[in-house]
Amino acid sequence: MGDLVVGLDVGTHKICTIVGEVRPEDIYVVGLGIETSDGMKKGVVSDVGALSVAIAQSIRKAEKSSGYDINRAFVSVAGSHISSLTSRGMATVVGSRSVQTVDLEKAMSVARNIAIPHNREILHVVPRSYTLDGQEGIRSPLGMHCFRLEVDAHIITASTTSLANLEDAVESAGLLVDRFILNPLAAGEAVLTPHEREMGAVVIDIGSGTTDIAIFIDNTVWHTAIIPVGGNHVTQDITYWMRVPFGLAEQVKIQRGHADMQAVSESEVFPVEPFGGEILPVSRRDLAMVIEARFEEIFEMVEKEIKRSGYAGLLRAGSVITGGSSLLPGYRDLASRILNLPVRLAQPERVTGIADTLKNPSYSTSVGLLRLGLEMDAMLEPDQDVNVGVPVNQWTRRMNNFLKRFLPQDE
Ligand SMILES: Nc1ncnc2c1ncn2[C@@H]1O[C@H](COP(=O)(O)OP(=O)(O)OP(=O)(O)O)[C@@H](O)[C@H]1O
Ligand SMILES: [Mg+2]
Repeated sequence: MGDLVVGLDVGTHKICTIVGEVRPEDIYVVGLGIETSDGMKKGVVSDVGALSVAIAQSIRKAEKSSGYDINRAFVSVAGSHISSLTSRGMATVVGSRSVQTVDLEKAMSVARNIAIPHNREILHVVPRSYTLDGQEGIRSPLGMHCFRLEVDAHIITASTTSLANLEDAVESAGLLVDRFILNPLAAGEAVLTPHEREMGAVVIDIGSGTTDIAIFIDNTVWHTAIIPVGGNHVTQDITYWMRVPFGLAEQVKIQRGHADMQAVSESEVFPVEPFGGEILPVSRRDLAMVIEARFEEIFEMVEKEIKRSGYAGLLRAGSVITGGSSLLPGYRDLASRILNLPVRLAQPERVTGIADTLKNPSYSTSVGLLRLGLEMDAMLEPDQDVNVGVPVNQWTRRMNNFLKRFLPQDE
């Protein structure tokens, strides 16, 4: 048996546990547990008990299909409580020598040492670029000579209570949280090509409770944001408009939904049974009008966020859209027009093992979680070995969130 990595994607719509065996060439999926989510609203916990039951069911399924006992996992996190900022850290390189890892860590620890409100904590610290003796834009300072090393870091913070609620739900389901990983970082990991990551691209994961955004430039993360609007809102709109229960609206959306009303014929009509019991004809074009309006709003919010980041002009590889709601047909031109960017629709590709189900945009975050989890595993200190099953200091784990991929490598 190889080492195991477990990803637990706690979504608003579904919970997905993936068990991966680490093999030299890739992670091999050996177990999968997908369960309908409960107790989550717009990416945050609204009912710890209900969520815990759903997580436990997802874990049991993954244990059964993999044959392994699972006792810890990397867990996805989202919600509007997430925020991010850029911070600068500095270190002096003493003794006329080149920059070493210890100098990078010193600069990063200064960048991380920012005042944040007592009810928030740092989730990730990602080095973006370095400045050596005033020369900006250095990506790989290791081995270069300088006296003054500065780092610009993207710092992602989360509400302590939101994380604690999620942690409670996971622990009540019998699992320890290895680390929390921000949804769009995981989604980016699963769907972006190395070229897109390098050239500049925004990954947009339209789920059910949230739309998650991450901007990757120069092979690292420059901006992240969570917008608390997603596919659930589309379904709610249909519920109000057709006066039908949520479940029926969801079914109508998936079977008949379209996000471009001009592409739907005026003559297309289908029967629906609203509250009251009388079956009525519904125009599919009118349905598309309702859906298009919500998608328009979502992309306008994404566009605003990209503009707010200040990096709109740097997205040379355009946008990559994923998430369960990206399965709706018809929004591509709308997205491209509003974002003023090329659009690529994506799902996880390089997945091996029992992975057919995962080759779907709904599972981008789930798959990315596993990959980032593996990389973070490699960063743990010896006393934090994830495979021995001992509880670790969660605080240290959260604070120590260097993402190995985003650290410049010695060239
Ligand atoms: N074929 C489809 N057509 C349209 N919408 C779809 C389709 N399949 C799934 N969806 C929608 O995708 C959403 C679920 O997406 P996803 O699985 O990415 O969400 P999640 O990860 O559970 O939620 P979140 O990340 O927002 O907390 C639901 O709103 C669902 O209605
Ligand atoms: Mg999701």
